[in-house]
Amino acid sequence: MSSNFSESKARDAALEAHEKLHDGRRQFFKTLGVGATAASGLGSALYSSPALAYGGPYAAAFGLDPARTFMNIGTTGSTPIGVLKSLAANNALIARDPTASFNTGDMRNLIATGFGADPFEIVMSFNTTDGMSKIFSGIVLNPGDEVITTNMEHPGGNSPLAIIADRRGLTIRRVNLPTGDSYSDAEVLARFQALLTNNTKAIMFSSPPFLTGVRLPEKLLCQWAASQGLISIIDGAHGPGMLNLNFHDIGCDFYAGAGHKWQCGPGQTGILYVRNNFSPAAPATYTKVVTINGQSVTLTLPGYTNTNPLPAFYPTVSGGYSQTPGTTLQGGVRNPTHNVAATLMSIGNPSYPALRALQECCQMWDTWGRQNIENYIVALAQYLRSRLAATWGPQSMATMYDANTPNHARVALTSFNPFSAGFDYNAVLTAAQATAQATASGAAVTTLRNTHAVVVRNNTVPHTLRGSPASNAAAGTNSSPLRISTHLFHNTADVDNLVAKLLLTVPSPARGRS
Ligand SMILES: Cc1ncc(COP(=O)(O)O)c(C=O)c1O
Repeated sequence: MSSNFSESKARDAALEAHEKLHDGRRQFFKTLGVGATAASGLGSALYSSPALAYGGPYAAAFGLDPARTFMNIGTTGSTPIGVLKSLAANNALIARDPTASFNTGDMRNLIATGFGADPFEIVMSFNTTDGMSKIFSGIVLNPGDEVITTNMEHPGGNSPLAIIADRRGLTIRRVNLPTGDSYSDAEVLARFQALLTNNTKAIMFSSPPFLTGVRLPEKLLCQWAASQGLISIIDGAHGPGMLNLNFHDIGCDFYAGAGHKWQCGPGQTGILYVRNNFSPAAPATYTKVVTINGQSVTLTLPGYTNTNPLPAFYPTVSGGYSQTPGTTLQGGVRNPTHNVAATLMSIGNPSYPALRALQECCQMWDTWGRQNIENYIVALAQYLRSRLAATWGPQSMATMYDANTPNHARVALTSFNPFSAGFDYNAVLTAAQATAQATASGAAVTTLRNTHAVVVRNNTVPHTLRGSPASNAAAGTNSSPLRISTHLFHNTADVDNLVAKLLLTVPSPARGRS
């Protein structure tokens, strides 16, 4: 692979990423209403090299072990210390008074606007897998219907889809997602369009996919789906807490995300969005009066980019659906005045403290500013990518490194492959090479953790083939890149530390290939 990406260019990009981080950090503290002194107190290690991990602007809010740098938020996050205290206090309260309950309607009313959604549409679910299961078992699909998805879905989305495909006799068609320099948003859309038939009823994709961490063009895909009358379903496991999401603007019918990953809620918490209206059309906004703690509050919400009628959807796990058949959703016909979120959250006795903890995490993010958070962590990920590009080249990542932060790079997961020939993410591998690479990659994860106190993970990825950018590696010849998560508690010193440890651990131009 030819590369005109010089080291000096990479340094410029790294400097630019530094500046963006500075701006992002200033914006954080402006939002908080604190001055430069307080800011430097909180994040004074931003440009120094601390002996211990975590110099990010909100590191002090988290109780991560300072003896190691945790960079696998993509698997699960770390609940802020303040929220943990409240979780413990609320558990004690329930233990003391077992029938005490918290108002989950208030919770939804408090957090929905942070996601650009109506409170009737935000379900505090158990996790992404639970959300995806509720979506696939609730929509109406019949034998012969087809669902277009991708070759990079997680079992948390693939399994619920397979269950319903087996049960209903559906056909699943899979887009091969492009990687490296074959990637473009237009190419992704074209590959979905190529699989459309008269039987297609729905599309499902994860953004970002857990294998590559590349953000897909969610709105573009959902707008296309809506134009074809298709149901759009996003596995957004990594969205809440990482991205400033606006579900009404994205235009999806359903979105299942985790509460316990980037949003840093307790285990077994999730955010599930179920579109429940189609009016007003964006860019208009509308207001809704809700009650929070007994007080009337007026919420201002964005209008809908998806103005299609609501697809039929049945809550499949609920003790809140009317016990008299025919009263809630006769024939699957949905009504925007039906609080589908309340029906979906009514499942026996919940863990009120866990739900409250998720609510508090969401409110922390709202206070800090979800756009500020996204800007900061995306800039930090770009800084990491610029450092990786400087040594291993821009072709070593899931998409070519681009200092201009295109939409697909607005994400805080980085998939990086130093194990293939030419440090090329899309290098062709034989089955034997793929096996050797999986072993080398697994060993690198272990060494980084046990010897260098840095926690990342690896994946098995069906990357695009260099010789044939429209096809992907055959099963058995997948590559095994590393996946790195950068979040609020990290700073550039944490990234520099990771890169230094990678240089001691994985193949590089200086150390040679494995
Ligand atoms: C894309 C994707 N979907 C689903 C899941 C499952 O997430 P959860 O543990 O929230 O069910 C994951 C977990 O990593 C994921 O990356």
